[in-house]
Amino acid sequence: MRVYDIIKKKRDGSALSKEEIDFFVSGYARGEIPDYQAAAFCMAVYFKGMTLQETTDFTLAIRDSGKTLDFSAVNGIRADKHSTGGVGDKTSLVVAPIVASLGVKVAKMSGRGLGHTGGTVDKLESIPGFRAELSEKEFIDIVNSVGVCIVGQSSELAPADKKFYALRDVTATVDSIPLIASSIMGKKLAADDDCIVLDVKTGSGAFMKTLEESRALAKVMVGIGKRAGKKTVALITDMNEPLGKYIGNSLEVREAIKLLHGDGEQDFKDLCIALSAEMLYLAGKGSLDECKALAKDSLASGKALKTFRDMVKAQGGDVSVVDDPWKMPESKHFHYVLAPENGYVTALNAEGYGLAALTLGAGRNKVGDKIDYTAGIVMIAKKGDLVEKGDWLAMLYSNDKTTFEKAEKIILESTEITNDRPQKRPVVLERIE
Ligand code: URA
Repeated sequence: MRVYDIIKKKRDGSALSKEEIDFFVSGYARGEIPDYQAAAFCMAVYFKGMTLQETTDFTLAIRDSGKTLDFSAVNGIRADKHSTGGVGDKTSLVVAPIVASLGVKVAKMSGRGLGHTGGTVDKLESIPGFRAELSEKEFIDIVNSVGVCIVGQSSELAPADKKFYALRDVTATVDSIPLIASSIMGKKLAADDDCIVLDVKTGSGAFMKTLEESRALAKVMVGIGKRAGKKTVALITDMNEPLGKYIGNSLEVREAIKLLHGDGEQDFKDLCIALSAEMLYLAGKGSLDECKALAKDSLASGKALKTFRDMVKAQGGDVSVVDDPWKMPESKHFHYVLAPENGYVTALNAEGYGLAALTLGAGRNKVGDKIDYTAGIVMIAKKGDLVEKGDWLAMLYSNDKTTFEKAEKIILESTEITNDRPQKRPVVLERIE
């Protein structure tokens, strides 16, 4: 088999065989295929696409490029959720304890933020003392005793994806459906959960900007999950405006803890209930409506809060911030952004808000960059609110006040105020089973 022939075959639009895909992925993971040939391959896939069979084979090759987790020591059924990445998306911090409080195990490996989207592990590490790097034994012990544990992605899991993702990032080949689907599902399948719920974001802050593209991505990922023998469901959810009101690591933890105490924005709460219900449903806890009621009760009764507190404690974090979210560390400086005119807030471009948070120090431009855990944005006005010129639109937080001017400019460019009252749309747009 020649690497050249595989690239040429894809470039000319033919479907690759499982043997060709395995040869390419394993060769690249072992360092036998150079980056320039892998880059040409990704570009050929970008333009010519892949069939569901090819995408499944590519996913399984990514999964098999490293270790698959062994959860035989975990008692009970395991469910996980994965979001394709958004702004202000802190749902895992609420969904995982809801589901675990109802007897379904959540052994979660999460990523760090890159670019304008955040990562669950960075958020959790903004809790003083919280440890997201645990041994496999500690991880499994906490899953068994508390029901949930959230750690950073092991470097031994799906190493081919690490190489492909870094390469795609610099060769303009990230936003390809087969490449995104295989990257996400390759890692999910290596983590070997029984049930997988996918939160496929759509809109300005998502990789997929239109409902059609998001639907296509969701269908491919659900198809791969099913072919690999996993119970899989996807929800397509709105990411035209940020989720909830807080963006940035310690701010998002504060918002998640506030919701666990029963106080939260409707869109954020609705999405947490919807995702939890899907995980419980796949795990066999009842009909979808029954699972929704169970999730709401866990949140309202404080069961999920207790489970989150137990998890934070087991992972070394300071539980006083769980008891009182206002104790989360805050930045040295803050700054108000004022409404430039009267009217309704008709659009809040999620990508723009994500970039503003990045400018304030909340995210990374490249892997390894240091982040300011306290940096971020509290949105005071959300879509549909009526504002007068000079009202507070948002509050910016950072330890570096020189960032405020640029972040404010981005926020103002990303906020549309008009005389027309906008239609609110639900956060969950479609369900793909
Ligand atoms: N998240 C991933 O893990 N991979 C992608 O390709 C896109 C988002």
